[in-house]
Amino acid sequence: NKRYNIAVLPGDGVGNEVIPVAVDALRLAGSLEGLDLRFEELPIGGVALDLVGVPLPEETLTKAKNSDAVLLGAVGWPKWDNNPKHLKPITALLQLRAGLEVFSNLRPITVFPQLVDSTFLRKDTAEGVDLMIIRELTGGIYNAHPRGFTTNEQGDEVGFCTESYSATEVDRIARVAFDIAKQRRSKLCSVDKATVLEGSMLWRKRVTSMALEYPEVEVSHLLIDTAAMDLVRHPRQFDTILTGVMFGDILSDLAAMIPGSVGLLPSAALGDSGPGIFEPVHGSAPKHYGKDTVNPLAAVLSAAMLFRYGLKEESAARRIEIAVSDVLDRGFRTRDIHTPGTALVGCKRMGEEILRSLDARVSTS
Ligand code: IPM
Ligand code: MN
Repeated sequence: NKRYNIAVLPGDGVGNEVIPVAVDALRLAGSLEGLDLRFEELPIGGVALDLVGVPLPEETLTKAKNSDAVLLGAVGWPKWDNNPKHLKPITALLQLRAGLEVFSNLRPITVFPQLVDSTFLRKDTAEGVDLMIIRELTGGIYNAHPRGFTTNEQGDEVGFCTESYSATEVDRIARVAFDIAKQRRSKLCSVDKATVLEGSMLWRKRVTSMALEYPEVEVSHLLIDTAAMDLVRHPRQFDTILTGVMFGDILSDLAAMIPGSVGLLPSAALGDSGPGIFEPVHGSAPKHYGKDTVNPLAAVLSAAMLFRYGLKEESAARRIEIAVSDVLDRGFRTRDIHTPGTALVGCKRMGEEILRSLDARVSTS
């Protein structure tokens, strides 16, 4: 049996509700494929602040680095909002991404046929959407140098954060995007603000020249404002979207409204080597925590991405995706995607139904 070590970092809030569901799905789908998965739970975020006084303990980072894949929940809690930056829960996430050098963030957005009624757009606009946002993750404005606070000549307080992208940073994320586009519908749309930002000007130049290496990929460039409009006007035109860390953050939440809930969106953060980080796009959701109402599907679909991109176990990934589809066929819906005529269930129950679907497949496949 192939053995894998998975670092499990539930973090804060609803991370503690959705991650156990994802772990159960990993374990069962893995065992059906003859994989031996070992899980080790580690603290991150507010939980770690309470425990050891820092958001990303040394041990968590070391063990994450030595694992085969990292499954992450969410970080952040109102209690810590006024902490200095280095003691904020979300700093842990940025440090973990930097520490594991996961520069590419894959955020697929698909409208399941069973869920077309959950969209915030018109049904005929959302139908059939299947796109992948490739977001640069360890550079750009999030990781700016210089940055900080100062006082200008007028004595006015100033906060600043300078965006830069190097050719090397653009090339490595663009390479990932071209390779993924090639395996999809061979359409790549690069999103920037090249009319204003220097980083974007370089970005567009590098993507344009890399396109020469991929004659089979149809490449387009959109400005971020136009891209935002087109994403809700006609999302089906998009296949693979390549963009920077900040535009990608905004576009992925915007795109969540196409299927209708951020509770459906999984993500993978990958580097050149070493373990990837697999996490739902949603946050710790303080408003919803403790009520057993949140949607575990974003976490479960992140578990599928963990198999696919992290462990290269495609059949285990497919098992999970088929189980999710089966649960939706059987009519189960959490509150965020509930529509008339379907069965409203909580997070735990949704998890049980996923296991049931996974199990059922043993006899049918
Ligand atoms: C996300 C989150 C993070 C980001 C925050 C928590 C730092 O919003 O993963 O989309 O902006 O990358
Ligand atoms: Mn975000």
